[in-house]
Amino acid sequence: MIKIKNEKEIESMRVAGSVANAVLKEVASFIAPGITTKEIDQHAGKLIAGYGAKSAFFGYKQYPCQICISVNEEVVHGISGARRVQFGDIISLDVGVRCEGYIGDNALTVAVGGCDPVAQSLMDVTERSLYEGIAAARSGNRVADISRAIQNYVESNRFSVVREFVGHGVGKSVHEDPQIPNYLEGIGSSPVLKPGMTLAIEPMVNAGAAQVKVLSDGWTVVTRDGLPSAHFEHTILVTEGDPEILTCAERLPSSLRRA
Ligand code: MF3
Ligand code: CO
Repeated sequence: MIKIKNEKEIESMRVAGSVANAVLKEVASFIAPGITTKEIDQHAGKLIAGYGAKSAFFGYKQYPCQICISVNEEVVHGISGARRVQFGDIISLDVGVRCEGYIGDNALTVAVGGCDPVAQSLMDVTERSLYEGIAAARSGNRVADISRAIQNYVESNRFSVVREFVGHGVGKSVHEDPQIPNYLEGIGSSPVLKPGMTLAIEPMVNAGAAQVKVLSDGWTVVTRDGLPSAHFEHTILVTEGDPEILTCAERLPSSLRRA
C-alpha cells in the first residue's frame, strides 16, 4: 500500500529532508585525506544530534552506524571503522534522519581531493541519472518511468545499474511501498504515481559489471569485479506539477540554521 501524505505530513517531511541534506553536505565537506571512516561517522552523529534529529539507520535491522559510508568498490551499506580515506578514493555517504516522526533519506558520492577520470565520470553520470529519474516522477507516470529514465541514462554512458538494491517509498518508516528499481527487467506492471507520494530515488551505478556481493560483515555491499561504484539519492514529493526535492538543505527552517 502506497501512503499518500497530507499537507501536515509533507511539512514534516520537508523538515526531515532539509536536515538530512544539511547533514549530508556538512559530512561531505568534513572528509579529508587521513581521517578514518569511524571519525566521519562520529562527526555525522554529532551533526544529526545538533539538529535535534536521530539517525534513521542506526539500529535499523541492527545496522551499527549513524550513516552508511562506502569506499570505492563498496556500493552501499558500508560499515565504518579504522580505515583511513586517501586522496583519490571516492566515498559514498548515505544519510537518513528522523525528525518530527518523519524520515529524510539522501546520498551522494564525493572524491577525496580528486580522483581519476573514470571515477569522476561515474559520479557525474550517477548524479545526472538521479535527476533523470526525478524528472520522470510526475503524477500519472508510473514507477517504471523513473526506472527507465535512470537505466537509459546510465547504460547509454556504458556504466551498469545495480539490481539487488532499489529505491523506495519513505515516510514514517525508512522503507515503504513502492519499490523503485533502477532497471526495467522483470519488474512487471508498476504503480501509477500520485500527488502526495514521497519517494527515495537512489541509483547505485557500477563502473564495471552490475554484479555485487555482500561481505561477511553482513552489510557491506561490494562490486564483484572490484571496480568502483557511485550512489546518489534524494527524497522527493510527487505533486500535481513538477516533483519537489524534499532533501534540500536550502530550506532548513530558520530555527535550525546555524549562525
Ligand atoms: N538509503 C538506504 C536505503 O534506502 C539506507 C538504508 S541503510 C540501513 O536502503 F543501514 F539502514 F539499512
Ligand atoms: Co534510501
